[in-house]
Amino acid sequence: MAMRELARALVAECGEDSVSAAPEALSAASVDESCCAPALPELVFWPRESAHVQRALGLCGALGIPVTPLGALTGKSGGAIPVRGGLALAMTRMNRILEISVEDMVAVCQPGVITGDLMKAAETRALFYPPDPASLKECTVGGNVAENAGGPRALKYGVTRDYVLGLEVALMSGALLRTGKRSIKGVAGYDLTSLFVGSEGTLGVVTEITLQLQPLPRAVVTALLCFTSLDGAARAVTAILTGGCLPRTLELLDDTAIAAVDGAGFDFPPGARAALIVELDGESSPRLMKELDALALKCAPFDLRDVRAAASDAEREHLWEARQRVSRALLALRPFKVSEDVAVPRSKIVEAIARVKAIGAAHGLLTATYGHAGDGNLHVNFLYDDEALRPAVTRATAALMEMTLALGGTITGEHGVGLAKRDFLPLELGATSLGLHRQLKSLLDPKGLLNPGKVI
Ligand code: LAC
Ligand code: ZN
Repeated sequence: MAMRELARALVAECGEDSVSAAPEALSAASVDESCCAPALPELVFWPRESAHVQRALGLCGALGIPVTPLGALTGKSGGAIPVRGGLALAMTRMNRILEISVEDMVAVCQPGVITGDLMKAAETRALFYPPDPASLKECTVGGNVAENAGGPRALKYGVTRDYVLGLEVALMSGALLRTGKRSIKGVAGYDLTSLFVGSEGTLGVVTEITLQLQPLPRAVVTALLCFTSLDGAARAVTAILTGGCLPRTLELLDDTAIAAVDGAGFDFPPGARAALIVELDGESSPRLMKELDALALKCAPFDLRDVRAAASDAEREHLWEARQRVSRALLALRPFKVSEDVAVPRSKIVEAIARVKAIGAAHGLLTATYGHAGDGNLHVNFLYDDEALRPAVTRATAALMEMTLALGGTITGEHGVGLAKRDFLPLELGATSLGLHRQLKSLLDPKGLLNPGKVI
């Protein structure tokens, strides 16, 4: 009854084509790229402007209907799965870049803009939007803001939060809030912008984003460093990080990750048991090549076998495509996987990588460890081919979380808590912080209707 009233109001105010209850639309909104079970919404709504979002939240609040915001559904933690049914609020049609200002070095966009498209638009004006999640060709800026997404270049440039200057946010009360500013500095009031960034669509729905941009680096050098042992590659990461030069990426692939993508568009040298993708940027290529030589020298004592600098943009692109494919390609090795996203302090990288493999082995599981090793952010995947192994995976995951927290790390570096890591959050936050989280949630969403069942 309430759903029918909601649908009628949305059609009347936002147009016939703004809603659908067709089975294919519901099923498309039921699943993301996590390992979480799908759940169907009852209705999908595609707003085109902020006022539509405001209206939808106001109506859901008044009618007591759960509402789950979603973007491109490339999320890895189940954050956009409508576990309580209700309305799926699909932000993908709010996909306009509203402004790129060279003078202010900012971009203003709607949340449904594809991250890679924003990057390209900035580049045409010699500006740079650095955050580069692996799904950048599909994921949306709004989704990145909701999850505070990272990516390889976070090593030098930071994560999404570091670029968000201001937001427009629709609240469950039906109000439209503006946070932040358009200048780099600005400390008036509490930092509400940061509160919403990474809140996983549980506190409000972002309807407009103001991002700071940087000058586009003039030169980039990308190299693949191959090692004959995983431990060697891990030690090389520490040697590079403590060596006084900060590359813009320091990505690790272990033997399982290499096996998943080798040969499909990019060939790894035979015998590589682990690899690092090192990318440097700066003023000139000859200078960066010198830096690369110095960096390779630091890695020499750690089972380094081969250094290959990309000779062209095409070669660079092929290497990055291989890296971006890892997450999906792992499913070709085994039909099931549980993929984690832990992060540890830099001094613990070598130990964490060794302990991940030991945990996998102790539970009889094939393990892939890859990702943003320079940030201590490891995508640990437990792969398996039989549902009977599920209890072993659950135990291995718990052991992984315990190990990470014992090393002073976090249960999720960039994918968010969502559904997938909800049970582990209390271990990391503790009672006082969790209590404050709950108070903030009930202040902004007293009826618990906005992205219900997630995070806390
Ligand atoms: C990556 C995703 C899984 O780095 O975060 O490939
Ligand atoms: Zn990642």
